[in-house]
Amino acid sequence: MSETPCIAVLGGTGQQGRGLARRFSRAGARVVVGSRDPVRASRSVAGWASSPLAGRRVEVAENGAAIAQADIAILAVPFASLAAILEEQRHRFKPGSLVIDVTVPVTFSDGKLALLDVPEGSAAEHVKQRLSPDVRLAASFKTIPAHLLDEVELPLDCDEFVCGDSDEARSRTSALVQMIAGLRPVDVGPLARARSLEHLTVLAIAINRRLKIHDARFRVVGL
Ligand SMILES: NC(=O)c1ccc[n+]([C@@H]2O[C@H](COP(=O)([O-])OP(=O)(O)OC[C@H]3O[C@@H](n4cnc5c(N)ncnc54)[C@H](OP(=O)(O)O)[C@@H]3O)[C@@H](O)[C@H]2O)c1
Repeated sequence: MSETPCIAVLGGTGQQGRGLARRFSRAGARVVVGSRDPVRASRSVAGWASSPLAGRRVEVAENGAAIAQADIAILAVPFASLAAILEEQRHRFKPGSLVIDVTVPVTFSDGKLALLDVPEGSAAEHVKQRLSPDVRLAASFKTIPAHLLDEVELPLDCDEFVCGDSDEARSRTSALVQMIAGLRPVDVGPLARARSLEHLTVLAIAINRRLKIHDARFRVVGL
């Protein structure tokens, strides 16, 4: 891996991906936003770059080109788009690269909040089935609210859970979580724990709705 690893954020133009891309670039990482439409994405990214809070210059590339150069690829796209993206791009991930699944298979049908019934058990396991075994996979950034992530000048004050089937995937992802000021990684073990994490996200959304707030998040005490 090069000295400054390249972090590709697929869906970096969206709510969750934007905060991650901006925070990693502010922390000094090389960030490439992956998009279906790099021209449109460049316009979004140019808007962040004009902010006095901008970090290192964020690059933009079509999804496949972003994946091909990534040491770490973050999947911050809607759950429903994953199967098609991975089918098309699977062969482009660098062997040994780390993929981080951020997706939550949540639905809001008729205003009712629910988790989709994913046959593999969780979104993260759905991703696992579609990746080559020579790629490392972890799940994280599933419970942190997009709105808070995007307030890049504010240090965070909560935990972010990390799971994955290899020590390497979890430790590399935990190091990435620690790049974000105030965010503490909590290693919760194997990838199948993503089932619990995805439920926690639904719980956070339900708390937000019930209490009319926006930023419910988690902190584990006793660590
Ligand atoms: N929002 C949150 O608070 C939050 C919190 C935790 C986890 N998440 C998870 O993070 C992921 C992204 O959430 P978000 O709210 O940021 O989503 P979003 O804004 O709806 O979409 C993110 C980006 O994904 C790309 N995209 C959208 N539809 C696509 C499709 N059909 N095929 C391929 N790419 C598509 C778009 O980028 P381009 O047009 O540039 O390709 C878009 O800007 C979701 O899986 C969500 O469950 C979100």
